[in-house]
Amino acid sequence: MVHLHELDFVDFFEENLDRDDFHEILRRRIAFSCKGSKCKARGRFSVHQCSKEIYRLMDKFKSENISSFLEVGVEFGGMFFCMDSFLRSVNPDFEGSTGLDIKTTELMESRYPNYHAKYPTAKYVIGDCFDFAPDKKYDFIFIDNNLKYNRMKECFHQYLPHATRYIGFHDIKDGRYGAKRLWEELEQEYETETFVHSLAGIGLITL
Ligand SMILES: C[S@@+](CC[C@H](N)C(=O)[O-])C[C@H]1O[C@@H](n2cnc3c(N)ncnc32)[C@H](O)[C@@H]1O
Repeated sequence: MVHLHELDFVDFFEENLDRDDFHEILRRRIAFSCKGSKCKARGRFSVHQCSKEIYRLMDKFKSENISSFLEVGVEFGGMFFCMDSFLRSVNPDFEGSTGLDIKTTELMESRYPNYHAKYPTAKYVIGDCFDFAPDKKYDFIFIDNNLKYNRMKECFHQYLPHATRYIGFHDIKDGRYGAKRLWEELEQEYETETFVHSLAGIGLITL
């Protein structure tokens, strides 16, 4: 089956979200790739997440009326376009997303202008997360910047005051990044939920 273009993601979510086999449809129509999972899609257009982990996150957020989203570390934009489209499709009052990355990629540069033209409230910012000063608060902040423990912790504390409802982390099970150790600490302190179906894993803090 041919994978969908990100400009069609919103329509896709609106049409399929309530299907019983939504995860299967999601996995087949949007290219996911993640180590240690069944998400084997190749190519840079893929969402570098495990489809089951994203599916479960979406299932949780379906009726939560999340109105704004910030992703720290977007790289090629897979997760950014997917989550932005999903949140638009479930919340008519969605205010928009910001995707931040310290360095741009050719692929993001080629994908973003058309997406932004269609959804002007989806914004892409190139900059260091330690220099970025958000001018608003976000209901959901997703941190996926592969930093070492100390920097990851610093990043978390910098963004905590800018999050209103949830902060998520990718790679909470992957020992190569600081998210794992930080997550083990945060679990002692916050109300948390995990979505783990790969060697990476997503962790969500409820504020
Ligand atoms: C694993 S990739 C992100 C993948 C993306 N979230 C997805 O699911 O498709 C990590 C990204 O974090 C970015 N990054 C690393 N350090 C950063 C920093 N200090 N500020 C902003 N972005 C950073 C890297 O440039 C890289 O593109």
